[in-house]
Amino acid sequence: MASAEVEFNQIKQRSNEQLWAEVVSLRSQVSKLTREKSFLEKSLDTLNVLDDAVQQQLLDSQDQLEVIVAERTRELEENNRLLQQEIKERQRVEIELRQAKDSAEHAKRAAEMANRAKTAFLAKMSHELRTPLNAIIGYSDLLQMEAADAGYTSIISDLSNIQIAGQQLLNIISDILDIAKIEAEKVDFQLTEIDICELVKDTVTIIKPVLQDNQLLVQCQAEVGKMQGDMLKIQQILQNILHNAGKFTHQGTITFNIKREPTLVVFEIIDTGIGIAPEHLCSIFEPFTQADNSFTRQYNGSGLGLTIAHQLTELMGGVILIDSELGKGSTFSVNLPLIPPPTFMEGS
Ligand SMILES: Nc1ncnc2c1ncn2[C@@H]1O[C@H](COP(=O)(O)OP(=O)(O)OP(=O)(O)O)[C@@H](O)[C@H]1O
Ligand SMILES: [Mg+2]
Repeated sequence: MASAEVEFNQIKQRSNEQLWAEVVSLRSQVSKLTREKSFLEKSLDTLNVLDDAVQQQLLDSQDQLEVIVAERTRELEENNRLLQQEIKERQRVEIELRQAKDSAEHAKRAAEMANRAKTAFLAKMSHELRTPLNAIIGYSDLLQMEAADAGYTSIISDLSNIQIAGQQLLNIISDILDIAKIEAEKVDFQLTEIDICELVKDTVTIIKPVLQDNQLLVQCQAEVGKMQGDMLKIQQILQNILHNAGKFTHQGTITFNIKREPTLVVFEIIDTGIGIAPEHLCSIFEPFTQADNSFTRQYNGSGLGLTIAHQLTELMGGVILIDSELGKGSTFSVNLPLIPPPTFMEGS
């Protein structure tokens, strides 16, 4: 019995201890759970606060987005309106341009027709005028010889004046025809290889008699060689300028220099004549332009020589440069390419 009581007591004590241990453990678990609950409650509060802020931010962003979208829509509408306006404006300009192009083409065709008619008229007139003029020149020459033979010496100078005037008229007609051909782009170029020294010699032979009381100095580089071009046209240019040098120089010197440069030949005509005032230099290549345009002018001519020389030079890819001083003299430099440009070849 005693041992059973002891055993019972032992078991009771052990149960008490176990229970006590479990109570302690439970207490600690409860306290831990309480702490965790409090922590979770705080976290939930924070989350709620955050959620509110996020919600608010979302609302704000949405408002901002709506404002931006509205603004962009307005901008797009405005841009669209401007674009439409520009398209209309461009269409209008395009129509105007087309109309202007049409009328320019129309005007060009009309001008070309008029030009062709003018050239044809001038060519016909030139033929009609040349024939009787050549007769006048020929007959006045004949009459001069007959008058000399018959002893009518008093009328020889009048007959000579008729011949000179006829020749002048013939030259003017030729110049006018040349200008008309240049303007109508109907110049025929004959491209050949030219011995520059020969060209200079021929030009000098033709021009010498009209250089009046002036001395002519020709300085042609020995190695000036050959060039390609239209010999007659180049001679025509040089004769015009040399003729002017003789006409506008009195008892002076005319120097004719010919130099070769890498791609050019330079024909330089220097005179010690009356010179050209600076205000006349800029218009010197215009047709019918003379430094002295008065009725009482001292020098004859129609003001076409330099125009023809200038235009022909440009058509051959060259340029004429002038340097002149009133009362001292002038220098005309005709610069021509040794080989004409392709455009000249096409035209020739
Ligand atoms: N060497 C020169 N010295 C001074 N003036 C010149 C000289 N060359 C040309 N001029 C001026 O330029 C003008 C135009 O020359 P251009 O050769 O075209 O005509 P022009 O000699 O008067 O007439 P044309 O040559 O038709 O017979 C001349 O009238 C003259 O005033
Ligand atoms: Mg002249």
